[in-house]
Amino acid sequence: MAMTSSSEAPPARLVVLASGAGSTLQAILDDPLLAPLVVAVGTDVPDCVAMSRAARVGVPTFAVPLAEHPDRGAWNDAIGAAIAGWRPDLVVLAGFMRVLGQQVVRRFRIVNTHPALLPAFPGAHAVRDALAYGVKITGVTVHWVDEGVDTGPILAQAAVAVADGDDEPALRARVQAVEKPLFVQTIRRLCGETL
Ligand code: GAR
Repeated sequence: MAMTSSSEAPPARLVVLASGAGSTLQAILDDPLLAPLVVAVGTDVPDCVAMSRAARVGVPTFAVPLAEHPDRGAWNDAIGAAIAGWRPDLVVLAGFMRVLGQQVVRRFRIVNTHPALLPAFPGAHAVRDALAYGVKITGVTVHWVDEGVDTGPILAQAAVAVADGDDEPALRARVQAVEKPLFVQTIRRLCGETL
């Protein structure tokens, strides 16, 4: 897998975006092949835990809060410029909870992980929505990001059974336990095969 420096192929440059607890980011930072590729971690929530996870291991961070911009177009311009400054080959959404506008989506190759079997349960509350619907199988989808909400081409999926008596935290924990290795493996594959 051509993921590290060689005389022919420079290593892929990853920018990771996150908005929350950052456990998905942590899985990337804990992976020995991916960690050296992460050139920056960005957020829309400056004080989120994900930023401290990045700072703890010395990865540069940047924050582009929506509230500091007059409208979504200006915010998209700003976050697009911030990302571009790091010259990424791949942008990784690891629990980034804002929808990126078309000027950003068209400018970069962006991969996302979503805690449901898309096209079922898109949006910000996928685990809760799956439980409320009463599905017996849910899971994880890793997909390219396009201009829709969780609609881009699917790269990988894994199923997770819903157990009798599951509540949202219990189901989320089992989904995320499957999600982390699937996301890491998929990003590794993208770095090795297509960058
Ligand atoms: C992850 O499960 C990710 O799939 C989900 O947010 C969680 C982030 O957890 N993303 C979405 O729901 C995007 N629609 P984390 O903050 O601990 O990494």
